[in-house]
Amino acid sequence: MAAITPKYSINAESMKKSQIREILKLTQQPDIISFGGGLPAPETFPVEELRAASERVFVKHAARALQYGTTEGDKALREALLAYEASHGVNAAPENLLITSASQQALDMLPKLFLDPGDWVIAGRPTYLGAIQAIQAYRGKILGIPFGPENDGFDMAELERRYTAAKKQGAKVKYIYVIPDFQNPTGICWSIKKRKALLEFSYREELILVEDSPYREIRFMGESVPSIYQLDCEGAAQGNVINLKTFSKILAPGTRIGWMLARPDIIDKFITAKQSMDLCTSPFTQLWLAEYMAAGKLEEVVGRTRAIYQKKRGYMLEQLERYMPARDDISWTKPEGGLFLWLTLPSSLNADELLFKAIEKKVAYVSGSAFYFDDPEYNSMRINFSYSSLEQIGEGVKRLASVIKEALA
Ligand SMILES: Cc1ncc(COP(=O)(O)O)c(C=O)c1O
Repeated sequence: MAAITPKYSINAESMKKSQIREILKLTQQPDIISFGGGLPAPETFPVEELRAASERVFVKHAARALQYGTTEGDKALREALLAYEASHGVNAAPENLLITSASQQALDMLPKLFLDPGDWVIAGRPTYLGAIQAIQAYRGKILGIPFGPENDGFDMAELERRYTAAKKQGAKVKYIYVIPDFQNPTGICWSIKKRKALLEFSYREELILVEDSPYREIRFMGESVPSIYQLDCEGAAQGNVINLKTFSKILAPGTRIGWMLARPDIIDKFITAKQSMDLCTSPFTQLWLAEYMAAGKLEEVVGRTRAIYQKKRGYMLEQLERYMPARDDISWTKPEGGLFLWLTLPSSLNADELLFKAIEKKVAYVSGSAFYFDDPEYNSMRINFSYSSLEQIGEGVKRLASVIKEALA
C-alpha cells in the first residue's frame, strides 16, 4: 500500500526550515573552517566541574532529579538564578521568574501566546533567525526596522514611520522583539539613549517589549549599559518588558536551560503555555546547574570566556584589515562583546552565491539574507569568531578574502 500523504496544518505548512542548519551540515566536514554556526568555544566548557556537579546530583538528589518537576522550575535553580540576577543588579522576585528549556522555547511561546495569524511583531532588520522561524510557525509577520552599523540600535524615525503606516493599514502589532546586547547577527550593542527611547515607545503604544539577552554577559570591552528590563524596573515600573536569558553562551548550550523574567501575570500565562509543551524543563539538568552554581565557579568561567573571545575577536579584526580588499564599500562591525561580526559587501556581490565558492575553498559563513523576514539584502555575511582557533581564524579570513577578491575581479 502506498504511504499516506500527511494532512499538515496551515501552521505546519508555513514553517520554514532553517537554511543555516542545512548549510551547517555541509560545513561540518572536518577540513572546513566554519565561521557559520553560533557555537561557543568548546575550550570554555568547564568539563570536570560539570561532571563533578552531575555526580553530586545522583548522590544528593537522585529521586528529585529523576522525577517530574514543577513547570516554573526547580526551587534550587530558581534560588540560584535570583541570586545571580541580583549580583548583576536585577532584583527579581520568585514570581517574576520562569525556567525554560533554553531561550528558544521562550521564543516559541511568545508567538504562541500573542499572535493570531496575520498579527505583527516589531523586530530588527536583520534579526535572529530562530525568532523569525518561530513567528513564521504561528503565521505572524515582522515589521522590520532598519538597524545597522551606522546606528546604535533601531532607527527610531523609521520605527515611527513604519509603525504609523502599518497601523493605518490595520496591522495588529502585538509585541516588540529586540536583542540590544551584541545582537545576533550584527554584534551591535544599543546605547542607553536608544534603549530608553524604545521603552518609552512601548509605554506609549502599550506594547510588550521582549528583550532577548543571550550575549549580555559576554562583554569583553567598553562600558556596560543597563538592560531594558532594568530600565523598566527602575523607571516607570510598568512591567512592559520580558527578558530572556540562557546558559547557552555563558556556560554551555548543551545544558538547554534558560530563564525568563517578567511581571507575575505574564509569567503565569507562559507557565500555562509551557505545560502543554514539555510539562517541565528536565529536573535533572536543573539540579545539575544548581549544583554547579553552588560551587561558585560560573563567574570565573564567564570571565575566562570573555578573555578568550576578546583575543579571537581582536585577531579576526586584524586579519580582516590585513586581507580584505581596502574599499569604502567593504566594512565590518567591531563588536565589544558577543560571538559575531557582520561584514557588508559591495551591493554588486551576493553572499548567497559566494557561499558555494567559499565552501569550495573550505571556509563557511552564514549569508546575511538568512536574517531577514522578507525582502532580504544579499550583500552581507555573519561571521562567528568564538568557535575557531586563532590559527583557523587566520587561515579562514585569508580564504574568505580571496573569494571576495575573485568575485570583484
Ligand atoms: C538572539 C538569540 N536568542 C536565542 C537563542 C537561542 O538560545 P538557546 O540556546 O538558549 O535556545 C540564540 C542562539 O544562538 C540567539 O542568538
